[in-house]
Amino acid sequence: MAIKCNFYELCCLLISITLVVRAWTPDITPKLINPKTEKLPVFFGNTTDYFKILDQDDNTILIGARNNIYNLSSTDLRERERIEWISSDADRELCALKGKTEQDCQNYIRVFARLDDKRIMICGTNSYKPRCRTYTNFHGAAQDDRTFEESEAQGRCAYNPTHNSTYVFTDGQLYSATVADFSSADPLIYREPQRTEQYDLKQLNQPDFVSAMEMNGYVLFFFREIAMEYMNCGKAIYSRIARVCKNDKGGPYGFADRWTSFLKARLNCSMPGEYPFYFDEIQATSKIIESLYQDRRSSIIYAVFTTSINAIPGSAVCAFSTDEIVEAFEGPFKVQKNSTSVWLPLSVDNLPEPRPGRCVDDSRTLPSSVASFIKTHSLMENAVPAMYGRPLFTSVSFKYRLTAVTVDPQVITKDGSAFDVAFVGTDDGRVIKFINVPPTNHSPEASNDVETVVISEIQILDNMPVRELTVAGNLIVVGDGYIKAIPLHHCSQIVTCVECIDIQDPYCAWNIQNHECGPLPSITNPRTLDDFIQNITSPEHGRRECEKNGDSGNRIDQRYSVSQPARGTLSAVAQRPLNYPMVKSREPGNDGNLLENTITHHLVNDANDLQLANTSLNWFWLIALPLMVTFLAIGIVIGRLLTKRACKNSPFAEHRNELTSSRPLNSRTSGKDTNLLMNVGPRNNKRDNLENEFVVGDKDRSHECKNSTENLEKVVHCKTTGTLTKVKSTYI
Ligand SMILES: *[C@@H]1O[C@H](CO)[C@@H](O)[C@H](O)[C@H]1NC(C)=O
Ligand SMILES: *[C@@H]1O[C@H](CO)[C@@H](O)[C@H](O)[C@H]1NC(C)=O
Ligand SMILES: *[C@@H]1O[C@H](CO)[C@@H](O)[C@H](O)[C@H]1NC(C)=O
Ligand SMILES: *[C@@H]1O[C@H](CO)[C@@H](O)[C@H](O)[C@H]1NC(C)=O
Ligand SMILES: *[C@@H]1O[C@H](CO)[C@@H](O)[C@H](O)[C@H]1NC(C)=O
Ligand SMILES: *[C@@H]1O[C@H](CO)[C@@H](O)[C@H](O)[C@H]1NC(C)=O
Repeated sequence: MAIKCNFYELCCLLISITLVVRAWTPDITPKLINPKTEKLPVFFGNTTDYFKILDQDDNTILIGARNNIYNLSSTDLRERERIEWISSDADRELCALKGKTEQDCQNYIRVFARLDDKRIMICGTNSYKPRCRTYTNFHGAAQDDRTFEESEAQGRCAYNPTHNSTYVFTDGQLYSATVADFSSADPLIYREPQRTEQYDLKQLNQPDFVSAMEMNGYVLFFFREIAMEYMNCGKAIYSRIARVCKNDKGGPYGFADRWTSFLKARLNCSMPGEYPFYFDEIQATSKIIESLYQDRRSSIIYAVFTTSINAIPGSAVCAFSTDEIVEAFEGPFKVQKNSTSVWLPLSVDNLPEPRPGRCVDDSRTLPSSVASFIKTHSLMENAVPAMYGRPLFTSVSFKYRLTAVTVDPQVITKDGSAFDVAFVGTDDGRVIKFINVPPTNHSPEASNDVETVVISEIQILDNMPVRELTVAGNLIVVGDGYIKAIPLHHCSQIVTCVECIDIQDPYCAWNIQNHECGPLPSITNPRTLDDFIQNITSPEHGRRECEKNGDSGNRIDQRYSVSQPARGTLSAVAQRPLNYPMVKSREPGNDGNLLENTITHHLVNDANDLQLANTSLNWFWLIALPLMVTFLAIGIVIGRLLTKRACKNSPFAEHRNELTSSRPLNSRTSGKDTNLLMNVGPRNNKRDNLENEFVVGDKDRSHECKNSTENLEKVVHCKTTGTLTKVKSTYI
């Protein structure tokens, strides 16, 4: 059996690879790789600090850390102020008694809210006993002179500093998405006193929350969770957006402490095609960005998605417009008749009045039919589609996955057009910068499409994940134990006009007077702009202007030396288009190694050439592709056989068939089966059985607790259930 399993996994992997190869054109090569930078400002902490960006203004950022909150200047990362808050001895001892380590039994500050001009509220894990403090007049006051009030923070702040919780503070109220218990078994979306249903897997099923934001009277939550509607064998994680109304006052009698407006929908970030390839696990989002798209003003959110951790490493950035989010919530609901039947769209005739999930003046006067409908029908039928129906940026690399994203919105260029400059972080410490430009050939079918331009890729942190990114004058990069600030652009390193144009960076324009590449002046006097050459959408046009000014310059200057990424990675090998000329020089790098310095120019003259360049394959693919195709055939046959066998044992076996018969073949195989293949992990392991038990069984988790002795957390959870429920009842 073991051999078969491994063989099955191997087949799945090969099928996945083949699908990936089919679904992706190779990644786009960054134009600038690891430019030399001056010494960057760094704020050093401890790897156990679990830094978290809590707030920022024009000149400063606030960082939540272990026992402290730091106010740092965003230009040089110098500490300007700090608030220290250490757990009391009693809390730390209790934490240790519950079996937590010394590192856990610290106070990690996770929540910050500005209540008014004078008061702030901060909340911390407080040695697994979360609490909040409200400080009055803290600016400038010495640590000992600050006055504060303390309160319980259960449901507002996580217990574990690494828990993927989020919150937003708006209109004087804190909306949190976290867990309300010591063992992280009770996830919730909470604003005192309303919360999501407790232990209801249809509402939240082991969620990892990513971000929360306010939008037009709603609060939106982004997260990933185990998908209840996924009824094939195995389990799948889907990305979600949920929303609640800010004016939700709870339901009528019996529902006072429950949301009457909690709805959620799937986020669809996928490569389109006959078999869409899904990036199902959301990792991070930007803030809401007001932008002009195709001459229409709209609000959009950029988000980073990855494939499952067991699958082939793939990442993507998708953008979602708030209009389409609203549309999904106005669409049909999904419904599951009983705990073993298939999820189907609910016909509109069966909806109670007023439409569940809409914001109403006083939700307490809603009929109880609406309140109970929402309780069981929180999932929408339609997924929110990504803008342009596909990711704006994809990367398939065995080296890294994307972890963070931030956007400098609407950077204005010479001709007045504006670009969102996106920065994404990877789990090996790189920061990649890209923009999306409208296509240069204005054919009608391309009008709905955009081209991704990857401007730069820079190794910022030493082989550790970029946890968070934000633009605050500089780009702030948060790693484990330290924070770095890097400039938003490296224009000044570029010394020729052509290169300044070719990099297609909205921050960079060529100054004809001083022969320098740099940002446009902020004074928007059209006459001073005449001194600059910049054309983001059409670099050829810009190059011609360079030539006209005698600045064609093919000269290579030592200052502009950019190094190449390590060879041997899929991305580096597979993606360099062959007809990009490279200029190489050798010089010792910082660490004494020889770095190969290259400059890649985009000398591609039109879209056809670009197409050609992108599809040219090098030796790796020439050898790998025929092999993969052969294995695909074998893999499909064996995969099918084993899938069938595994499904026979699944409680959903018959319903899978139901699914098959009720839908056309291609819709069944699309997506769901692709994802099935991506579940490379052993199918019939213990955890999956537990999962299935959950799905089939009722909401009561106590059976799990009774049987579980493997895990200390669970034991503690079981023992403490009584007291926790008691505590909970104070706000539920
Ligand atoms: C980091 O944490 C360890 C363990 O608590 C401590 O011993 C060390 O002094 C800390 N280092 C710094 C630079 O704060
Ligand atoms: C940091 O402290 C300064 C005063 O020293 C204050 O003006 C600023 O608002 C603080 N930054 C944040 C993000 O709260
Ligand atoms: C939080 O999310 C990250 C990746 O997004 C994951 O590696 C980590 O395990 C999650 N934390 C917890 C406590 O599950
Ligand atoms: C669920 O519904 C289906 C038909 O919709 C029915 O055949 C089945 O017996 C039901 N199962 C339970 C547990 O009620
Ligand atoms: C997701 O989007 C793709 C491409 O637009 C589409 O083909 C696919 O059907 C969508 N999937 C879902 C579940 O909506
Ligand atoms: C960029 O090039 C296009 C032609 O390809 C031209 O129409 C446009 O005016 C140029 N923009 C600037 C700012 O020069």
